[in-house]
Amino acid sequence: MADRFPEGFLWGGATAANQCEGGYDLDGRGPSLIDLIPAGPDRMAVMKGEKSYRDVPADARFPSRFGIDHYRQWKEDVDLFAEMGFKCYRFSIAWTRIFPTGEDETPNEAGLRFYDGLIDALLAHGIQPLVTLCHFDLPVALLERYGGWKSRRTIDAFLRYCRVVLERYRGKVKYWLTFNEINMLMHLPFGGAGAVFEPGEDPDKVKYQIAHHELVASALAVRLAHQIDPANQVGCMLAGGTYYPWSCDPEDVFAAIGQDHVNYFFSDVQVRGRYAPYAVKMMARRGVTPQMEAGDEQALAEGTVDFVSFSYYSSRCISAHPEKTGAMQTTNAARTLHNPHLASTQWGWQIDPLGLRIVLNNLYDRYQKPLFIVENGLGARDTVEPDGSIHDSYRIDYLRAHIQAMEQAVNVDGVPLLGYTAWGPIDLVAASTGQMSKRYGFIYVDLDDEGRGTARRSRKDSFYWYKQVIATNGADLGDSGRLR
Ligand code: BG6
Repeated sequence: MADRFPEGFLWGGATAANQCEGGYDLDGRGPSLIDLIPAGPDRMAVMKGEKSYRDVPADARFPSRFGIDHYRQWKEDVDLFAEMGFKCYRFSIAWTRIFPTGEDETPNEAGLRFYDGLIDALLAHGIQPLVTLCHFDLPVALLERYGGWKSRRTIDAFLRYCRVVLERYRGKVKYWLTFNEINMLMHLPFGGAGAVFEPGEDPDKVKYQIAHHELVASALAVRLAHQIDPANQVGCMLAGGTYYPWSCDPEDVFAAIGQDHVNYFFSDVQVRGRYAPYAVKMMARRGVTPQMEAGDEQALAEGTVDFVSFSYYSSRCISAHPEKTGAMQTTNAARTLHNPHLASTQWGWQIDPLGLRIVLNNLYDRYQKPLFIVENGLGARDTVEPDGSIHDSYRIDYLRAHIQAMEQAVNVDGVPLLGYTAWGPIDLVAASTGQMSKRYGFIYVDLDDEGRGTARRSRKDSFYWYKQVIATNGADLGDSGRLR
């Protein structure tokens, strides 16, 4: 049977330190942004910066501090990924394991040893590491000293951290991402980038200044990665999802273009090396043009990415007159109209496999860079049967449909795609809700929303299904999804 995906296609899974590692106080790790974000009713308000992290009661539950205990159970987790036949594993390095306060004189050896072990184990299994340098992460010390990314000192601290890990893993890690979902900053300014708005500050102005600092940091990190090892491939990462116009009314169509501009604001810079004309005009019109320093333009121009990666959970929909067209809802932090043509998950995120093919086409038409789907999946409640089995056919159906759409984008539309790493191959803490019950995994983790349970790992039906998908390089997607 001939392969339906390119040879060497990077099948695998993606996690983030802040949602799986736990061990927040082990081996010298310093406090990080995510440790301050509670579960429960305050979570969104804190992520959006509407409620200060300083006002969260100390006895609130902070689920990322414990995650799924991956920091201690990582060997078993990697063995399970290997058993599924992963070719690639995306994870993030926790900045505060390497520099606990962001500005320590020397890096924390114990933290580095953790990633040494993880990366060596992956390579021993023939799994290519894909490292996110910053996934919703920031040393709290930098936040308190300088206001985090408001200050250019955070750029310097970030680059010091990047240099350490890029040098340490030279020749071992080839694929890197700078900032996870960098555009999330506009929707969840605290959760995405640690933005805190002090009284009297204009939140919009702060956000665009922070955006500029992160873009400069990202470009300098790309340049550094190329200097340290010319074989390094560095990508940007955006929360993907095309905006559909509610109707063919040209005003709706134009509203969708406007929303896509918001979405592409960052990746346009990261791919092209300069702000897009619509962005320059918009920032000037709104009085939020960031302060730039000599050298910034050159840094942006020289630090363009090698590939474009993105997460995809759903498409979005907008009208010029949303008040007339129905209720808005939130999906992966993006505001969208409810699309009557699509079904929804238990968390109300709408399911749109063709939307993935649309995004792949849009991104390739726009950038002509190789693409990488680094997150996609279904957050759903699972039931453990008395014999311990978990029959998650709904997850298989979701993933199968998206893989079929991706296959069409590759083989029919000619989109160059490096790989597909499903989000949360092992259940982990949901970023938006802090819940464990919103499960994405092929591997079940016995923990509930209160953090109670054994943290024992077990295989769901989707585990065996994904193993077969990878073994056949996507040719066998299960009975109803067999590609030929
Ligand atoms: C993306 C993030 O926003 O979506 C992940 O990069 C996150 O960190 C994922 O977990 C799914 O969102 P959620 O809220 O269901 O965990």
